[in-house]
Amino acid sequence: MQNWSPSSWREKPIRHVPVYGHEAHLREVEKTIATYPPLVFAGEARDLKEKLALASQGKAFLLQGGDCAESFAEHNPDNIRDIFRLFLQMSAVLIFATSLPVIKVGRIAGQFAKPRSSDTEEANGEELISYRGDIINGIEFDKATRNPDPERLLKSYRQSAATVNLLRAFSQGGYADLERVHSWTLDFLENSPIGEKYSDLAEQISKSLGFMRACGITPESVPQLRTTDLYTSHEALLLGYEESMTRVDSITDDWYATSGHMVWIGDRTRDPKEAHVEYCRGINNPLGIKCGPSLDPETLITLLDILNPTNEPGRITLIARFGHENVEKHLPGFIDIVKKEDRSVLWSCDPMHGNTIKSESGFKTRPFELIMNEVRNYMKIHKDKGTFPGGIHIEMTGKNVTECVGGAVPIRDEDLSSRYHTHCDPRLNADQALELAFLVADELSSTL
Ligand code: PEP
Ligand code: CO
Repeated sequence: MQNWSPSSWREKPIRHVPVYGHEAHLREVEKTIATYPPLVFAGEARDLKEKLALASQGKAFLLQGGDCAESFAEHNPDNIRDIFRLFLQMSAVLIFATSLPVIKVGRIAGQFAKPRSSDTEEANGEELISYRGDIINGIEFDKATRNPDPERLLKSYRQSAATVNLLRAFSQGGYADLERVHSWTLDFLENSPIGEKYSDLAEQISKSLGFMRACGITPESVPQLRTTDLYTSHEALLLGYEESMTRVDSITDDWYATSGHMVWIGDRTRDPKEAHVEYCRGINNPLGIKCGPSLDPETLITLLDILNPTNEPGRITLIARFGHENVEKHLPGFIDIVKKEDRSVLWSCDPMHGNTIKSESGFKTRPFELIMNEVRNYMKIHKDKGTFPGGIHIEMTGKNVTECVGGAVPIRDEDLSSRYHTHCDPRLNADQALELAFLVADELSSTL
């Protein structure tokens, strides 16, 4: 890797980062974090890359999701358990519908820093610095809280470590028992208006599990049925933190971000000449690139030249987030140029970030119908082009929040105020996310 170091991004123009009042304090904190243990191992990031390579060839499916912004306030074991459980349920549905392995990647254990459309925010005649995620400042509209505070990096690191620790325990400790996961899903369907619609699929899963049990393939006898991998991911936005967590792998001598297994470059920070692309080109983790309406196909190829010069499969996931109306206008051109240039990529669909609206009552929300429309359009375009719609990327929580309108038991505008807990964008709640998994499973099984 020519002229790259974990700090070479510092020489490039950069956007969407905070200005700290105490640079020296920030540097001290970054130095301290650089001495801390990695949160993930390079070997795990390589395993994930291999799995993503399979998905890019149509042999696996990527399910990536979690909070828009993790917060200190929502850090507790129940929330971690609930999102883990939701991942298990969604992936079980997708596995049975597609007969493909599902790669589970959380927006978790590091998804703290947020790009903001405006540097400042005004309320009650006062103008303050915008909230940029708990790793940077606090959400309360208060001058002192909004000041970027380096100590928050340490707290975010510790929260991520605790989160990863519990996820690893859940993954290996028997919580992922497939029969149990299915019984939760049956309970969900029993109480949901979509229960009828998906009863066939649920019955198929029950029958398959019954058949397997009769053959002696049970969670007790086959460890794979009671264990799983949940990988971590986040946007590589706060590069000082990322730099502190960038380490050389002792096996390959290559650089890896050890803050998470996969990182992505956001839609607002993917200028090929700027700092975020510079940082990401030198790490060997799998990378996501958010592709929104302002990206043009030639720039995408420039990005692929920089970020994946050897065209390594599994290295790049293109996360399309055009909006339900725009996806038909933009996605075909990107698919065409990627095909023409013979680039290896995994296509994923983020149906959240292009479908955010302000509700009549003033909440930032996302209508479930529009989210589904974008997924359907994305699947249809891939079907027409003969490419594989290899993943989805969604903002979701295992909790029963009221942030996105719609769904089988519809959340209405007037319900939004009841449990609107997100620190940034509106997330699908557990029922909406599971409903989405059923719909995606349906679409995918008719596409494959
Ligand atoms: C996000 O994923 O939370 C995000 C900010 O997305 P994008 O960069 O696509 O706007
Ligand atoms: Co978001």
